[in-house]
Amino acid sequence: MDRKAIEARLTCPEQLDYGIYLNCDRLLACQKPFEDLVNGDELQFMIVHQVEELWMKLMAASLLDADEAMAAGDALLALTLLRRVHVIQRLMTAQLDLIETMSPKAYQQIRLNLGNGSGQESPGFRVLLEMPPHLWATYKKRYLDGAGRSVRDVYDTGYNHDEAYVLAEALIEFDEQFQKFRSSHILLVNRSIGLGSVSIKGRSVDLLTAGARHRFFPDLWQVRGEMTDEWGSEYGRKRDSLSDLEAGRRAPGHGHG
Ligand code: HEM
Repeated sequence: MDRKAIEARLTCPEQLDYGIYLNCDRLLACQKPFEDLVNGDELQFMIVHQVEELWMKLMAASLLDADEAMAAGDALLALTLLRRVHVIQRLMTAQLDLIETMSPKAYQQIRLNLGNGSGQESPGFRVLLEMPPHLWATYKKRYLDGAGRSVRDVYDTGYNHDEAYVLAEALIEFDEQFQKFRSSHILLVNRSIGLGSVSIKGRSVDLLTAGARHRFFPDLWQVRGEMTDEWGSEYGRKRDSLSDLEAGRRAPGHGHG
């Protein structure tokens, strides 16, 4: 194959209407020129990060819309938008697998070229980290305080699988998917640069585990624990095993008859 000719077309595409609408010329010029790539993996490394930034842009924009929909009491629209966000989150986590096709040695060569850049400087990630408290405030105002309800009421005492409940579950899904991304990213980091290594900024990568323990909507996690504790006091912490009960039922004189 004519490598040079193909690389030229991948960098400066022929601009038909499709390419004009999507700004393909600018999009495909956003990666290092082929001749400057330090190895065959650097293009993948750049593209995966760039695509992740685009997904985070769409996620943040969708969360802005979801927040406004919740504020207006439009639960169905908010749910559709939050579902879009969940799909993006799963895509973002799945895409990390691509990077695992890069050898640890190839990454060391790439790492020399990153300056002080680290994922913690990701513009999309930084915006996303700021959004959950606003989403919670909007949800609380409209669906809890505004309706004279508590989280416990929505989940237990007044539980009827209503809008307040499904929205809360959509928020906790966001939280859970975020943590899944962070956990998978930690596994990727371990696989690329080892366990307990130091980040480009000189921090222990073990600090990432603190982030992975963080929860955006603590009230929604807490209510489950409260329910387990309280219901547990009714059904007991240590109970007879089901097999003992079953054996008792099968014992002579204890038939179904
Ligand atoms: C070879 C692959 C990768 C390695 C070795 C790596 C390494 C790291 C390290 C060491 C940190 C901690 C930075 C610090 O303490 O200053 C970090 C943070 C981060 N990285 Fe990566 N990363 C990789 C791939 C990716 C990819 C593909 C993404 C996609 C978006 C990403 C996004 C992030 C984000 C968002 C953070 C901040 C995480 C948080 O605060 O919980 N990284 N990465």
